[in-house]
Amino acid sequence: MDHFLYKANELYAEDCKVAELARTYGTPLYLYSRATLERHWHAFDRAVGAHPHLICYAVKANSNLAVLNVLARLGSGFDIVSGGELARVIEAGGDPAKVVFSGVGKTVVEMEMALNLNIHCFNVESEAELEQLQRVAQRLGKVAPVSLRINPDVDAGTHPYISTGLKDNKFGIAMEEAETLFARAHELSHIQVKGVDCHIGSQLTEIQPFLDAMDRMLALIDRLSAKGIVIEHFDVGGGLGVTYDDETPPQPDVYAAALLERLGDRKLALIFEPGRAIAANAGIFITEVLYLKQNGNKHFALVDGAMNDLLRPALYSAWQNIIAVIPREGETYNYDIVGPVCETGDFLGKDRALNIAAGDFLAVRSAGAYGFTMSSNYNTRPRSAELMVDGEQVHLIRARETLPQLWQGEKCLP
Ligand code: LLP
Repeated sequence: MDHFLYKANELYAEDCKVAELARTYGTPLYLYSRATLERHWHAFDRAVGAHPHLICYAVKANSNLAVLNVLARLGSGFDIVSGGELARVIEAGGDPAKVVFSGVGKTVVEMEMALNLNIHCFNVESEAELEQLQRVAQRLGKVAPVSLRINPDVDAGTHPYISTGLKDNKFGIAMEEAETLFARAHELSHIQVKGVDCHIGSQLTEIQPFLDAMDRMLALIDRLSAKGIVIEHFDVGGGLGVTYDDETPPQPDVYAAALLERLGDRKLALIFEPGRAIAANAGIFITEVLYLKQNGNKHFALVDGAMNDLLRPALYSAWQNIIAVIPREGETYNYDIVGPVCETGDFLGKDRALNIAAGDFLAVRSAGAYGFTMSSNYNTRPRSAELMVDGEQVHLIRARETLPQLWQGEKCLP
């Protein structure tokens, strides 16, 4: 459930009229709902109940400071993949003691920063990274809390670009090497083994791959425990899918209940790293129709939003619903909704039945995750403004970029 609903034939974001916001703040525009964000976070948190756990929101999904701050106020932890994301979490008032640091290529500088801030855990992805972390921690006189990310080799059944748990993906440590590496981590002077983690992919709509991964990971944890290596937490990663179209992913309560059942009476805290499940349907992307045109039999709606603003359709052929902010009665045409960027791949949606005219606003649904964070300045297009609504209140949480900001730091030759 989200808070973007039609009332009297007009789209609202909570208690705000979307068309009014578009007129006031201009388009293209990202619009988030605080109530939806909070609702989704609580759904996850409540699903795990009294079992010791930490919800570490995956910052990459939507890293606007206001989004992070809203979640930090709920007591959320954060899953980060860069020093930049860590800095954002701190800037937004997040607690570094609830931060887990994922990613295959952490630099020395990023390790230093995270060690100095005493983060909860490093999710280490290779032997080389483990040895590097040991050296950095030793130099700083710190002990690095570590989890090893193991690749359980299960097929998440999702788009190949967002599937991460197969053997030939770059992520994680092969299961066959896991025990040797845990033994090594256990003996390193400035490493403290805390957990095991995995992340098998994103936008999973079935529960079975999660359970298959969990079974393999729990078997590993049991083998480690037999060898005297105590694991305190199991980080199950993120990846729970959302409804873009007609997908029926398991709800967080069903998902968590299934995991808890598998866990049995093991005394393991659980860490979750949801990104999309919290943010995707808490945001929409608003764009204005500039022109309608017909090439042969094809109808195009040229809009002011483009692949640089919302890359998912172009990159993954992702389908996101596109609706009129103020729908018109009458005949519809099948439109390709395309942007002004000079690429054939620049589309937000294809073959969408709509009755629209130039000047109308369209809303691309489910744009709160991997929307703005994947946007760029391609074609020297300033990035969109971002708004957050909270009941009747509206907050500009990122001003639209200005042109001089786009070449700030650049220089002509003398
Ligand atoms: N943890 C790790 C280690 C991850 O790599 C990811 C996402 C997450 C958590 C969060 O996954 P989520 O709950 O959001 O599925 N840009 C793509 C998605 C890339 C996901 C990358 N990793 C998209 O727009 O579909």
